[in-house]
Amino acid sequence: MTTSAPPAIRVDGLIHLYGAAAGDVLALDGVDLRIRAGEFVALVGPSGCGKTTLLRAVAGLLKPAAGTVTVFGGSAQAAQAAHTLGLVTQEPGLLPWRSVEANVRLSLEITGAAADVPALLERVGIARFARHRPGELSGGMRQRVALARALAHGPRLLLMDEPFGALDELSREAIRLELALLWERERPAVLFVTHAVREAVLLSDRVVVMSGSPGRIVEEIAVDLPRPRAEAIDSTPPFIALVDRVRTALRADARAPAPAAPGRT
Ligand SMILES: Nc1ncnc2c1ncn2[C@@H]1O[C@H](COP(=O)(O)OP(=O)(O)OP(=O)(O)O)[C@@H](O)[C@H]1O
Ligand SMILES: [Mg+2]
Repeated sequence: MTTSAPPAIRVDGLIHLYGAAAGDVLALDGVDLRIRAGEFVALVGPSGCGKTTLLRAVAGLLKPAAGTVTVFGGSAQAAQAAHTLGLVTQEPGLLPWRSVEANVRLSLEITGAAADVPALLERVGIARFARHRPGELSGGMRQRVALARALAHGPRLLLMDEPFGALDELSREAIRLELALLWERERPAVLFVTHAVREAVLLSDRVVVMSGSPGRIVEEIAVDLPRPRAEAIDSTPPFIALVDRVRTALRADARAPAPAAPGRT
């Protein structure tokens, strides 16, 4: 243990290009980002600005054209291998023929790690559905399974790519609360991508705003609201002011014409 612990995420000068038929796409153009251990950071930005690309680079799933990524001072691949990180994508990606319990157990089987799966299911509120197949669950329940799977190894870093995007407002509120409680209890570092500005402010210690193509970070806004936060905090003046600041940063970016992006968010 060194005197100053390495940050959960350290990204320096990250550049990433995708080769596409219509020409190269500069998805990330010099992104620098630090996330401390135990810090909850929300990442917002217009569709196509490079949020998923950034998350994938942090997870070690793509090799950037330039720049460096370290996770707790080591490589992203080392963090993957050590199960330091948990990834939740927009699509839960569950195996339809396996039960909820078996889906969560799968990643443990692959790695030979041990975890109390029933307790895990209890924690995310789906213990009653342990023997159900994913097809028998609602979208919100499937997201809970995906969250349980990401938590199975007790990750110190959670990467979440619009995990609640497909949910109705009530399910979303419920699972958001679970996530907030879980974070309070276990304090993983979190990088949470969302399109919902209110959600970003509600959950995070800091909101990072990305600009459209090419992807850059244009602003970082500290969210110094007391915790734990009830949903009702959203009618208080400090909350409203923060939401406003994030919206303004997003809007400032909108003056640059964005390329036509698919409507899907
Ligand atoms: N596999 C790929 N091949 C070519 N271009 C890609 C690929 N993946 C992403 N891109 C392009 O890179 C840019 C960034 O994409 P990315 O998926 O990171 O955006 P995003 O911010 O996550 O968007 P959204 O909010 O819609 O999920 C976009 O212009 C996109 O078209
Ligand atoms: Mg994305």
